[in-house]
Parts: sequence; C-alpha cells; structure tokens
Amino acid sequence: MQLKKINIGKLHTENNIFLAPLAGYTNCVFRSMCFSLGAGLTFTEMVSAKGLCYDSKNTKELLQLPPEYAGLNAVQLFGSDPYFMRKAAESDELSGYDIIDINMGCPVPKIFKNGEGSALLQDIPLASRIVGEVAKCGKPVTVKFRTGVDKNHLVTRDFALAMQDAGASLITIHGRTRDKIYSGPVDFDQIASAKAAVSIPVIANGGVFSVADADGLMDKTGADGIAVARAAMYDPFIFCALSGTPVPDKKAVIKKQIGDTFSLFGERFATVYMRKMLAFYIKGMPGASAIKMKLFRCADRGEIEEILNGLNF
Ligand SMILES: Cc1cc2nc3c(=O)[nH]c(=O)nc-3n(C[C@H](O)[C@H](O)[C@H](O)COP(=O)(O)O)c2cc1C
Repeated sequence: MQLKKINIGKLHTENNIFLAPLAGYTNCVFRSMCFSLGAGLTFTEMVSAKGLCYDSKNTKELLQLPPEYAGLNAVQLFGSDPYFMRKAAESDELSGYDIIDINMGCPVPKIFKNGEGSALLQDIPLASRIVGEVAKCGKPVTVKFRTGVDKNHLVTRDFALAMQDAGASLITIHGRTRDKIYSGPVDFDQIASAKAAVSIPVIANGGVFSVADADGLMDKTGADGIAVARAAMYDPFIFCALSGTPVPDKKAVIKKQIGDTFSLFGERFATVYMRKMLAFYIKGMPGASAIKMKLFRCADRGEIEEILNGLNF
C-alpha cells in the first residue's frame, strides 16, 4: 500500500493508515499502542456530546489522552444537536484533542432512533449544520459516515459533497449501508464516487483484514487512505504489516498494554478489558478455546500476565 501523509486542515498525519473508532476498545492505551505499531492516526471511541456537556463521569473517562506521544489526537463525538455538538467541541475536556470527528454512521437502534449516528444520513441539512457549527471551534472537523441507510437510499456522493461544503477537512466512508451493520461486501463504487467528487481527503473503511485487502480497497476506491477497525482488535500488529514498521517483540508490547491499562484505568476495568483483548489476540492459536476459558477466570493482573507468558506468538 502506498504510504503518504494526510493533510487535515493545517495538520498532517504520520501516514494514511488509520485506526477507526471502536466503542469499548480504542481507549488511550490501545490508541497509543496502535500508533507505535504504525497507525498514522487514531480516534477515540464515539463520545456523546450531551454526555460531555452534562458532565458525565463515564464520558470523561473515555477522553483520557495517551500516556505517551501518539501523534495527533482525534476525538469522535456523536449527537444531533448542533448547539451541544459545538459546546462539546469547545469544552475544556477536549482541549488536548487536535481533531474533532463526527459520527454519522453508527447503526445501533438506540442511537439511530435518537436521530444520531447513521440517522443523519437521512437529513443532510442537519448534518451540514452540525459540521458548520462544530467547525466554529477552530479545530479541523472530520466526518465518518456510511453509504446510506439501505441500498435504496444511497447518499455517499451527495453526503460527501455536503460535508465538504459545510467545512469538513476529511471524510471517512464506511462502505456499507446502515442495515448491513458490519457484514456483507464493501461498496467500492460508492466510495469511489465520493472520492471523485470532493477535494478533501477521503479515507475508505470496511473489510480490511490483510495487506491485500488494504491494497484492494485503495485501488478500487482511489481513496487517500484506509481506516482499520475489527482487524486491529484481533491483531494490532496488522499496522506493522500495513505500514512496513518492523514487528517488535509482541509479548513485550502486550505486556506494556497490560501495565498501562492497569495503571490508567484501575484494577476492575483493566482485568475485564485485558481478558477480552487477550481472548481476541489468541484467536486461531492452537488450544485457543482452553486458554480463553482460563483467561475468563483470571481475577487480577498477575494471572493475566501468567497466561501471556505462556503464549507463543
Ligand atoms: C465493536 C465495534 C465498535 C465500534 N464503534 C464505533 C464507534 O465508536 N464509532 C464509529 O464511527 N464506528 C464504530 N465502529 C465501526 C468501525 O469503526 C468500522 O467502521 C467498521 O467496523 C468497519 O470497519 P472494519 O471492517 O475494518 O471493521 C465500531 C465497530 C465495532 C465492531
């Protein structure tokens, strides 16, 4: 895959391979790890603009910044009220973030019914107002969206143009409709039609699980870069393969992830989270199901590290 920096407003990313937002997973430690493995830009998981404005403790925990330099910091907000979206973007909690990304692709019924996430694909004027209002915060605004709510309502090109006109500095397009959630083929043509129409960078997303997938997505869409989501949960070292970064000692990297997660997020969260992550990392290994059973009985950091020590990567 052809590597290049991406300009987002006046900012430049390290390269054009991004870690897409993953609710429940892309915390600051994971983002930092993926950056060190070759991701050019990473995003927080989606954070509620209203939750932020109403001072929710849970929301603020999602906004911790990486423990060490991890490139530009991009936060993803969701919401449908332009006023709250701008207020959140301008809040002190986001002062350490360089880029504000707006979620216009989340398919989850609770979000959709609230008129948020992918529901905004059905209301281009409102989506544009949100971008215009958030852009007033002075930071570059990016938008992540899908191709439409279903195959009878494809909006990719029009939506891309509207976001650009409203002031977005980059768009990420997940090449699936809302009703497909995360399954089915990625619609390369839809992404290509948006890429041909706009002058801001376009990042293609969906279905990258190998270097060949990444090359295919780039070739078939003409996009400027790609965003990887699920593959990174199972194998964050995919960023090494995609970016040409030498593969480090995998156990040492995961051990650091465990250490940083425990020190930043506390015992309870870290135990559950790292059990889950290790269960992803061992997928496909011989004896994975027995190891998984043992993992889910781990009660503390020591027990998790003991399992890690016995693994063969
Ligand atoms: C568990 C999970 C959580 C996700 N959370 C978010 C999110 O917070 N914001 C977002 O824009 N997309 C979210 N997504 C969508 C991904 O960013 C991505 O668009 C989608 O998974 C397709 O990419 P992939 O085929 O590389 O996984 C999530 C996906 C999964 C599987």
